[in-house]
Amino acid sequence: MTTANRPEPQAPQRSDFARDFLWGCATSSYQIEGAGRDDGRVESIWDRFAATPGTIRDGSNGLVACDHYHRWPEDFDIARGMGLNAYRFSIAWPRIFSEGGGAPNQKGLDFYSRLVDGMLERDLQPWATLYHWDLPQTLQDAGGWEDRATIDAFLDYTDAMTRTLADRVKHWITHNEPWCTAIIGNFEGWHAPGKTDLKAALQVAHNVLVSHGKAVPLIRANVPDAQVGMAVSLHPLRAASDSAEDIAAKERHDGLRYRWFLDPLFGRGYPEATLSQVGAAAPDVAPGDMDAIAVKTDFMGVNYYFPETVAHAAGHAPLDTKVLPPTEGEITAMGWPVVPEGLAELLLRIENDYHPGPMYVTENGSAFDDVVGADGEIDDVQRRHYLMRHLASLKAAIDGGAPVKGYFAWSLLDNFEWAEGYLKRFGLVHIDYATQQRRLKSSGKWYGAFLRQA
Ligand code: FCB
Repeated sequence: MTTANRPEPQAPQRSDFARDFLWGCATSSYQIEGAGRDDGRVESIWDRFAATPGTIRDGSNGLVACDHYHRWPEDFDIARGMGLNAYRFSIAWPRIFSEGGGAPNQKGLDFYSRLVDGMLERDLQPWATLYHWDLPQTLQDAGGWEDRATIDAFLDYTDAMTRTLADRVKHWITHNEPWCTAIIGNFEGWHAPGKTDLKAALQVAHNVLVSHGKAVPLIRANVPDAQVGMAVSLHPLRAASDSAEDIAAKERHDGLRYRWFLDPLFGRGYPEATLSQVGAAAPDVAPGDMDAIAVKTDFMGVNYYFPETVAHAAGHAPLDTKVLPPTEGEITAMGWPVVPEGLAELLLRIENDYHPGPMYVTENGSAFDDVVGADGEIDDVQRRHYLMRHLASLKAAIDGGAPVKGYFAWSLLDNFEWAEGYLKRFGLVHIDYATQQRRLKSSGKWYGAFLRQA
């Protein structure tokens, strides 16, 4: 079937969700801000990584990106026009960090102050993420997240940000997707800082979790009525076949991909089976760490994109498992399968396994190759249908008992998609990178119409 004449899926109505349900879009600093050298911003690990030949598919970087640093009023006007009532953004640590320690960079603090005021003026509830992967390069040079000193640096940064924004930002996400920070960045190596060392990756994961655990009480001390949580990326898992080998492989993968992160957050420590499978690569754990990590949070953020199919793969590090590419069904430009019911499956599993309290879908979205029509319209029917079908799945999850209180579409704008550069577009708003013109796609128009329903 061509994409143009496929039937419109059944989407829920806004009134199928609670009146106080949050409807937002999510973004992150390095992916949209640009202004890489403005107002005292220092180099981040993504600047360094992108400057290394062969790392980014189109050889690009985030130095200009969507120029959101200068164009945010227009972007927030668009968000407001769509009827969003919340907006998830991340703070660029390199704008705040002063090399050699000392006071935070006032110009960086002022930028985020203005940004938050701009959200509040447009009735967008600010949801701030402290770490969405742009570590100052100087901290990486000193050992990065492998070194516990970075935990202390993160707490200093968290302290500065939460003091500055305490009166206006109540919703704080400590980390975005620790899996990606740790495993993709330090074991798989296709994200910054580009290491390929399992022991390092698991130490990074541990230190990131500890930094989360220590940040939560600090944020609460600084921010009256704070709501604090983390955003984790998770996938429902399927075994590649009914064979005992593939089923066992799926279990091993689940141990590292899901339970390695969630079990400690909910006070259960690292899963025993996975600990023995990773052997000497297990992280060093200091006294008190596991208690710190298990701090109770106010909500859990879940980023969902697609399910993973796992096969036994002898010799494939680290656990003799492999995630297989999809072989059937609709596939996005990222090569990810479109499986809306996976969202409900995942949310219900988390609720069943951990009872985390309120959950928010902090990211969900799709990349497709958009075409700007002669009339300037972008009829991104696949992305629109992806959104409609995932909202139907979200409703099914809530009906099934998952306490989900909000949804953030990834992403407001097309942006710098990490190792894919600008080749992959996830936005509800199209960016013409040559002119920086913004155009609402049909997916964004549909979201706006959905939100304007009574
Ligand atoms: C998530 C990231 C986000 C974006 C989407 C497509 O893993 O958090 O920054 O790249 O994937």
